[in-house]
Amino acid sequence: MDLPLVLERTAGRSLNEQLTLQLRAAMRDGRLTAGERLPSSRAMAASLGVSRTVVMEAYSQLYAEGWLDGRHGSGTYVAQIVTVESWRVPHPDPQLVRETPRVNGVDLRAGVPWVAALDTPAWRRAWRRAAEVSPAARPDPLGLPGLRAELGAYMRRSRGVAAAPDQIMVTRGATSGFDLLVAAVLRPGDRVGVEEPGYARARSILRARGAQLVPCPVDEHGLIVDALPGDLTMVYTTPSHQYPLGGVLPMPRRQALVAWAARTGALIVEDDYDGEFRYDVAPLPALYGLDPDRVVYLGTTAKILAPDVGVGWLVARPELVEAISVRRLELSDRTPVVPQEAVRLLLARGDLDRHVRRMRAEYARRRAATVAALSGLPLWGDTAGLHLVVELAQEAVVRVERQAAERGVLLDSLTRHYAGEPTMHGLVIGYAGAGPAEIRTGCALVREWAPARADGRPPGGPGPVARGSASSGSPPPASPVR
Ligand SMILES: Cc1ncc(COP(=O)(O)O)c(C=O)c1O
Repeated sequence: MDLPLVLERTAGRSLNEQLTLQLRAAMRDGRLTAGERLPSSRAMAASLGVSRTVVMEAYSQLYAEGWLDGRHGSGTYVAQIVTVESWRVPHPDPQLVRETPRVNGVDLRAGVPWVAALDTPAWRRAWRRAAEVSPAARPDPLGLPGLRAELGAYMRRSRGVAAAPDQIMVTRGATSGFDLLVAAVLRPGDRVGVEEPGYARARSILRARGAQLVPCPVDEHGLIVDALPGDLTMVYTTPSHQYPLGGVLPMPRRQALVAWAARTGALIVEDDYDGEFRYDVAPLPALYGLDPDRVVYLGTTAKILAPDVGVGWLVARPELVEAISVRRLELSDRTPVVPQEAVRLLLARGDLDRHVRRMRAEYARRRAATVAALSGLPLWGDTAGLHLVVELAQEAVVRVERQAAERGVLLDSLTRHYAGEPTMHGLVIGYAGAGPAEIRTGCALVREWAPARADGRPPGGPGPVARGSASSGSPPPASPVR
């Protein structure tokens, strides 16, 4: 790198700030271009006559802002970003010039898996072969028997769910399975508990089928079981990774939940939409195993493969499955045969398990990049799933959203996940579909507009943990199939 850099010990700014500013300016005005390699921190420190820590701090700030990219083991490079000369955005303080790089289309909304990773020979082979399947004149409303058998084995090894084929129905996804269940068992006016905040599509399904919604509070561990009213017909819950706050329901609460259902006669709906992804600790098996008579389990390929696949599954006691399949025929609902056969082939050849293992390791890296880029801010739900929540003051959310929209960064506010008045504010950050540079760029924007207080908490917000990059920053090794 042939760039004049001058650091002065009397300049009123720390040495690492001066270095950060000068490197950022060089990248902004094109003296350093995308893909260019920066000297190692050791070499840079030696040439500037400063300590290596100064250089490492400057590099890590520029990484966090998305200006730099690291290729594993091979150095530090200027990231592929679209920079705009003297990029400025309005700010209440006109003295402040915002220097976050402009990016095109960073999508950090929740619920997006990394679909590009599916373009593999195994994926293409499964769909080619699936297209050769013979269509049935009278399709089984429970789905292809071969797929149900594979799903039974998959759920047993990956989620600890033991279900016979007559307890498994192939659906078009978790929400479509939920809709069939609701259509089959609820009467208009039945009171149904939903997590608050919770999954908006589950609420709209319930509203559309005439149920009365009862928002049930959650905390950082998930559903607060002690607060459940006794007069619910059903409660919809996401115990593996509460949507959206991310709590993993602890065992005592799971036991209390099934005891509550046994006492009140309510049905528990377990939406296990991303239960395959848990990072630092061993996964808890699905809640279903604690009471297969009272829990209805919903699974999906939406996160482990892609939302487009359109295949999910529902597990319940046999007479409930029978009642749902009768209602399903009335509604003319079915899962197309080719996607069913493709998923069967992916399961039978071990390709789906391999993909989940690969994605778990990759998502752990993306999660670590997100946690590192947001370190010091109160984070919720970063031990599992494909998203986490950063708790912020409401004004900060509004500011970040405005700036994000201007810079082409798509973010998801926590507010829309509440049925009623929000009791907490923040952003739901989906990190699975974004690469490390995109994650750093999006998170730099959050940081820029939402500085943490000294205690790491935003004004008024009792976040569960202010996470540093060190504690959870390193991805675990790819774990074996459970
Ligand atoms: C809580 C929850 N359930 C289910 C799904 C996906 O369901 P489906 O399989 O219907 O696409 C999502 C996707 O974002 C989700 O967030």
